[in-house]
Amino acid sequence: MKAYQIRAGAGIAGLERVERDSASLGPNDIQVRLAAAAMNYRDISFARGQFHNTPSQPLIPLVDGYGEVAEVGSAVGRFKAGDRVIPSYYPLWGDGAIDRVKTSVSFGAQIDGTLAEELVANEEFFVSAPKTLDAPGAATLSCAGLTAWNALFVAGAARPGSSVLLLGTGGVSLWALQLAKAAGLFVVITSSSDEKLERARALGADAAVNYRSTPEWQTEVLKATDGKGVDLVVEVGGQDTLARSLAATGPGGTVVVIGRVSGGGGVPIEPGALIGGAKSLVGITAGSRAILDQLVRFVDVNALVPTIDKVFAFDDARAAYEYQEAGRHFGKIVIRVGD
Ligand SMILES: NC(=O)c1ccc[n+]([C@@H]2O[C@H](COP(=O)([O-])OP(=O)(O)OC[C@H]3O[C@@H](n4cnc5c(N)ncnc54)[C@H](OP(=O)(O)O)[C@@H]3O)[C@@H](O)[C@H]2O)c1
Repeated sequence: MKAYQIRAGAGIAGLERVERDSASLGPNDIQVRLAAAAMNYRDISFARGQFHNTPSQPLIPLVDGYGEVAEVGSAVGRFKAGDRVIPSYYPLWGDGAIDRVKTSVSFGAQIDGTLAEELVANEEFFVSAPKTLDAPGAATLSCAGLTAWNALFVAGAARPGSSVLLLGTGGVSLWALQLAKAAGLFVVITSSSDEKLERARALGADAAVNYRSTPEWQTEVLKATDGKGVDLVVEVGGQDTLARSLAATGPGGTVVVIGRVSGGGGVPIEPGALIGGAKSLVGITAGSRAILDQLVRFVDVNALVPTIDKVFAFDDARAAYEYQEAGRHFGKIVIRVGD
């Protein structure tokens, strides 16, 4: 089968096109014929050698993906040939509370992922894809969509009418924008680009702030919420944004810490910034299969179509990596697999 592989730390130049043998099918495995895969910032981190717990040998990258079941093992009960599936970010995390074992393995980081024609794995490592989405759309749920859903509605416990701050217009933030608006939340979003902010408004954002032309953007977030501050922040920024996100959060609010697109250095936060307003800081990492199932149902019920910036051909996978790294995208970057 056609595939790409890359060694952690090899850089984007280290992404190589390879032919791999099809993996053998165990009794509990399904063979998925992949149709699309999608990029995430984590895949750039992996290429740079900044991802945790990576193997020394090259592996097939990417976790976001979509395909149809081609063949099932003799003991498989959940799926049959022809079923439409997406991978679960952490194959060992089916449900319940997080622990080290459940999050020890993820597709495209510790085991082979989705940038290949086939993925063979235990049936428990997949969920049914949304019925309403085509291949590129369905390929964006397993990491970006799941993380946005977990941040908003599991870790963040948002309710209709809650206010939420989203940072930038990358994959997680735009998924969060679309989910939040479908659920009746008030959304403030930031971006470095006025043009992207216009597009975010067209997707339903209630207030938009350019973090480049307004370095003290937290003041504008407070103004947009009548001085109250937001109930929740989906914090993907890291070192340059975390303290400001906390300042933009209202009393009793929560900052869900997810990423570090501006860098992962230390952030000076005074204890009083949390104590006075009884604010919470909570980290999350993707989510369980059960949380992904919740997202799939919500996407189907609301017929949500994720925002895809660009779809690349399989032969152009390296260009997709470079496009993601450049950060000019608005939403998701997808790679078509197969014909
Ligand atoms: N914890 C988890 O489970 C988890 C899961 C998924 C992702 N993540 C992390 O979350 C982050 C976002 O991932 P992603 O895949 O959505 O990334 P992405 O699509 O590459 O998003 C990049 C966007 O971030 C924005 N950005 C860059 N610097 C910024 C800054 N200083 N302030 C505000 N926004 C800034 C830019 O938006 P504009 O162009 O609009 O300025 C840029 O386009 C990454 O750090 C990733 O590793 C974590």
